[in-house]
Amino acid sequence: MSRAPVDLTAAEVTRVVRAVLVPLVAQGAIVRRPRMTAWAERRQSDREVRRVLTALRDRYDGAPLALRAGTRRLAVVTTADDVRRLLEGTPEPFSAATKEKRGALAHFQPRGVLVSDRDGRRRRRPLNEEALDAGHAVHEDATAFVAAVERAAGELERTVQAARGLDAGAFLRVWWRLVLEVTFGEDAREDRRLVGVLSALRRDGNWSWFRPRRPWLLAELERRVARHTASAPPTSLAGRARDADPDEAPGQVPHWLFAFDAAGATTLRALAVAAARPRVRDRLVDELGASGGPGEGTVALLPYGRACVLEAVRLWPTTLAVLRDSTRETRWGDVTVPPGTGFVVVSSFFHRDPARLEHADGFAPEAWLDGRADDDWSLVPFSGGPASCPGRNVVLLVASHLLARLAGLGLAVERGQHLAADPLPCTVDHLGLRFVVRTAAAIVGGDRPGYGGTGPGSARPPRRGGLR
Ligand code: HEM
Repeated sequence: MSRAPVDLTAAEVTRVVRAVLVPLVAQGAIVRRPRMTAWAERRQSDREVRRVLTALRDRYDGAPLALRAGTRRLAVVTTADDVRRLLEGTPEPFSAATKEKRGALAHFQPRGVLVSDRDGRRRRRPLNEEALDAGHAVHEDATAFVAAVERAAGELERTVQAARGLDAGAFLRVWWRLVLEVTFGEDAREDRRLVGVLSALRRDGNWSWFRPRRPWLLAELERRVARHTASAPPTSLAGRARDADPDEAPGQVPHWLFAFDAAGATTLRALAVAAARPRVRDRLVDELGASGGPGEGTVALLPYGRACVLEAVRLWPTTLAVLRDSTRETRWGDVTVPPGTGFVVVSSFFHRDPARLEHADGFAPEAWLDGRADDDWSLVPFSGGPASCPGRNVVLLVASHLLARLAGLGLAVERGQHLAADPLPCTVDHLGLRFVVRTAAAIVGGDRPGYGGTGPGSARPPRRGGLR
């Protein structure tokens, strides 16, 4: 049973705004700003989120925390039951197309399902589910996707050999080729301009309504997406969507490209944990080896690899807050809350709540393997209910296969001592991760910084300060 929201005092509002909203906006909700993610890691900003929200949850006994931000009335929920109510109650009476999301996503995906009205959602949600084969752990076109993963893994291996290591920038360059191939087929792999235009529009999206639209840039994005979609093979995501609904398909694709960015971040973080923990790394490699490898005809489900990816996105959620707007009056305890109220689920608070999770700060893929985590409404890295992420299975497939292949490269992660044992740091800046080829010294020395600023594609000087 939901409790009535409590109005926070002015001091409490300030605390929530400082701990939760400022880091969220500063890092960029739509595309991360590298300097700000480095700053968030140095401050371990998610630890403060947790501290502030835990104190308020305890003080107000799990009631939603009501506050005003400008003209907006927001309610930050603090119990798993309320998370469930919001997500199961989507799209009515809790719409996923919130004011902030409509403002942000209109810059690059005005027809995406996430920001669609009820009629649009009715057409577009089934199309997304069909193209992404949402109901199946192994997508019907998985053979093509894993072939793309193998190509990417080969490129990354060559990079590692040439540079004796890998940093996030080098990883992401290959990642985007992989994303373009899975989305549009092999011919689109080198369309870097598409990724650049999308990134520019996503940067605009970080400012939501406050940044004027750039219709000419959106038109270029849409032209490129339409051209690739028209020529995409039926075994690609866009080809499959086009064959299901040629009119709606191109409007859905920008969301997929955008969301694959989160999958890249998660793969990097999972790889960092694997590189710091021999037991995790060996199990990933063994699972892939036991699956038969390439050329066997069918694509293997890699349960442990998937669980590692899920665990990485639990520990370091990429959707910093899941938002819902009420479409009509809703009843909370003995209070009626007006329509247009924004409800906020702060992922990092729920995902590491020691009151609910024994392994809150630990790396526990087994909780996904035995189904415990999936049954828990406080763990929502891919959201939940009727508007949950239809790309979840594609992400887990692509990321687990790439992760397992990279785990075999013998990498150590810089500053790996922070990841080698629990508790894990609250905030990890994926853009700052660097890997080096393991040497006896690195293993013995606990992965000391291996390539101080001169490593592969290293755009950044080595940073000081631990992860904790
Ligand atoms: C680690 C990677 C990803 C994570 C953590 C993730 C997470 C999420 C979350 C939390 C939502 C719900 C957002 C909300 O309710 O406001 C969502 C929605 C969505 N995601 Fe993902 N996502 C990922 C990757 C992908 C990919 C790669 C695709 C497509 C290829 C995808 C397709 C979608 C779509 C279409 C929606 C909107 C669903 C709807 O409104 O009905 N996602 N995702």
